[in-house]
Amino acid sequence: MNTQQTKVWDIFIRVFHWSLVATFAIAYLTEDDFTTLHVYTGYSIITLIILRLIWGLVGTRHARFNDFVVSPKNVIRYLKDVIQFRAKRYIGHNPAGGAMVLALLASLSMTVLFGMLVYGSAEFSGPFSFLGDSVGNSMADAFGEVHEFFANFTLLLIFLHVVGVAVASLQHKENLVRSMFTGYKKTDNMINHNNET
Ligand code: HEM
Repeated sequence: MNTQQTKVWDIFIRVFHWSLVATFAIAYLTEDDFTTLHVYTGYSIITLIILRLIWGLVGTRHARFNDFVVSPKNVIRYLKDVIQFRAKRYIGHNPAGGAMVLALLASLSMTVLFGMLVYGSAEFSGPFSFLGDSVGNSMADAFGEVHEFFANFTLLLIFLHVVGVAVASLQHKENLVRSMFTGYKKTDNMINHNNET
């Protein structure tokens, strides 16, 4: 048996991932009663996302967007392969995982953006505090609705993300969660997007 390991997730990706999990959980649980903590975890989330976007351009090989962002056609083809239990094993994010990374980052960004708009228009605080004087209560309520929608939509994406991680781990008999802690994956049967036919 080949037990050779290769480094896939650098330290930035691992710290980013588990910090995002923690900050999202805190933000979700503090929405009603702990406004200051809720707001500061929101700022932490958007800071993490901005750093991740930069790392997606200049970071290590499997952290880069050009390593895992593929066309929707390839994502659908990959999902069909998953259903038929013949999906290839990828060393970085697989095509569906890559699409999910983008969806999670986008949905989290929208959640934080609309959170800051609510905070500015209803509480006259934060980067959009200038909105307080110019928008009415109905607009602040609308921002609140959109903020809540994206928070719940993100939760749905997280559920699908965790299911996807579990399915890929089972199909390829590997522990992807452990890899997100250690940074390493086994090198047998692996393919990179660049090697795709
Ligand atoms: C406890 C639940 C979670 C587990 C077990 C988990 C596990 C994982 C694993 C194993 C990967 C790597 C997938 C691969 O090998 O391609 C990953 C990636 C990722 N996960 Fe999670 N995850 C969890 C929760 C979350 C949450 C709550 C978020 C967002 C708030 C999230 C966002 C992401 C993102 C953005 C990536 C891509 C990492 C990167 O390339 O920067 N995950 N997750």
